[in-house]
Amino acid sequence: MVVRNNLNLDVLELIFSHLAGNDLPTVALVSHAFFGAVIPYLYSILLFRLSQAKRYPRVMSPFAAIAVHPEFAIHVRHDQYNPKFLAECSRALALCNNLTSFRCSVDSLPPFISVLQKKDRLRDLRIYAKLTTEQCLKMVGGAAQIRHLTLDFASWNVMNLLPQWAGALRSSLTTLTLFMANELNETVLESALEQLPNLLGLHVIGCTKIDHVSILGLVHHTPNLTALSMTTGDCSARALPTPGTSLANLVHLALDVRFHNQSPAFLGVSSTSSVVLTSIFTHIAASSPSLTSVILKYPDRQNPVTIASSFIQQQLIGAHGRTLKTIALIDCYVDLDVIAAISGSCVGLERFEVMIPMRDLKLFTAALSNSHTLRLLVDANALNTQHPRRSGPSLTQDYLKQMFTAVASLRKVVGGDRRVWTRREDAHAGGFTVGMERKPTSHSAAIHWFMPRE
Ligand SMILES: *[C@@H]1O[C@H](CO)[C@@H](O)[C@H](O)[C@H]1NC(C)=O
Ligand SMILES: *[C@@H]1O[C@H](CO)[C@@H](O)[C@H](O)[C@H]1NC(C)=O
Ligand SMILES: *[C@@H]1O[C@H](CO)[C@@H](O)[C@H](O)[C@H]1NC(C)=O
Repeated sequence: MVVRNNLNLDVLELIFSHLAGNDLPTVALVSHAFFGAVIPYLYSILLFRLSQAKRYPRVMSPFAAIAVHPEFAIHVRHDQYNPKFLAECSRALALCNNLTSFRCSVDSLPPFISVLQKKDRLRDLRIYAKLTTEQCLKMVGGAAQIRHLTLDFASWNVMNLLPQWAGALRSSLTTLTLFMANELNETVLESALEQLPNLLGLHVIGCTKIDHVSILGLVHHTPNLTALSMTTGDCSARALPTPGTSLANLVHLALDVRFHNQSPAFLGVSSTSSVVLTSIFTHIAASSPSLTSVILKYPDRQNPVTIASSFIQQQLIGAHGRTLKTIALIDCYVDLDVIAAISGSCVGLERFEVMIPMRDLKLFTAALSNSHTLRLLVDANALNTQHPRRSGPSLTQDYLKQMFTAVASLRKVVGGDRRVWTRREDAHAGGFTVGMERKPTSHSAAIHWFMPRE
């Protein structure tokens, strides 16, 4: 039993640095000493979700609470224009001189623009970028030290100013993410990338006018890229550019697979898409990168196609099996023999995200047991932030016990219902026990599916 006075502040802070979610406020209620030690973590991320916003002002907003504690990364999610809430929120933001991170992933940015301008330490900015030209000019003229910029649903005015914004961030920007910017065209993207030769991460997903052919034609501007995400396009009429060597540093590749013209999923097997995917992998192979992370997402989660085995065998395992640590195959079925091949041949695989076949759990586990390195298994159903699976069969403790036994390196499994199961070593209970915790959902929503996993 720990008596609080036995522990000094340093020790408490160290312990609390491992806590998250509701544990933080719970700990704060224990005593003054605990409260003091937990404060830096409690307020390091401010999160105000839609569900809380709907209950406002019955629930106190974190912004009203922080006015006295100026040390924070801020992540904002809210949806309701309640004037008092907005006032609290921007007042709190104004006080946060050391703000390093700001996220507003719903269409409510404008009230925060003027406060954000004075944040010299802001490094990480993700916004819902439906802005007027004037609003966007303010953003461009504001924080000049941003390293990671994510623009969701950017409007045409914002895209018009993208080259100018890129120029302003030339010396600091390392990651540029453009998600669902339908007005983005190649001319504008090229003018922006020309000014960002140091870029390390480029993620252009769901932008209708920009597909993999456009992106691969532009990456010679950014020869140091380590992470790339793109949406596949129809390349029947357009050839890929001559492969260069500008992707030599690439370690992370994410593809948003889209089907074009021909019947997409003949007999449920996606052969058309594997032709496109093969052409992309072949193109990239010319730079001989050592990929450690590959994410593929298919378009139809209601009717998933089966990913072609030959593509996985040749392009994924054959070319990158020795280096891959993370593989995510989202919204597609994967044959069990493919799972067995991945587990057996990807000798450094640590994280695997895949739709867990609930009807074939035994065979699935047997296929996975080829791996001696796998630490984290995630059911790809859990990645869908809007609709995590709530019905249907779930993994059970008994079943998890078998899985942890069969795959000895495995430490954690995230089920389709987002339950997190962990292996806990216990010398008395036959080596280990299986524990279950519910994952705080905040961070899964905070990160786009195509971004490198931490
Ligand atoms: C905020 O930044 C100032 C100026 O560099 C620094 O002195 C202060 O310690 C920082 N505050 C926190 C809580 O990190
Ligand atoms: C590309 O987009 C920019 C900015 O939205 C626009 O001004 C320009 O006319 C577009 N160019 C083409 C070729 O569509
Ligand atoms: C790319 O990285 C190398 C070293 O990692 C560096 O010397 C070079 O300047 C970078 N190139 C560009 C265009 O930033």
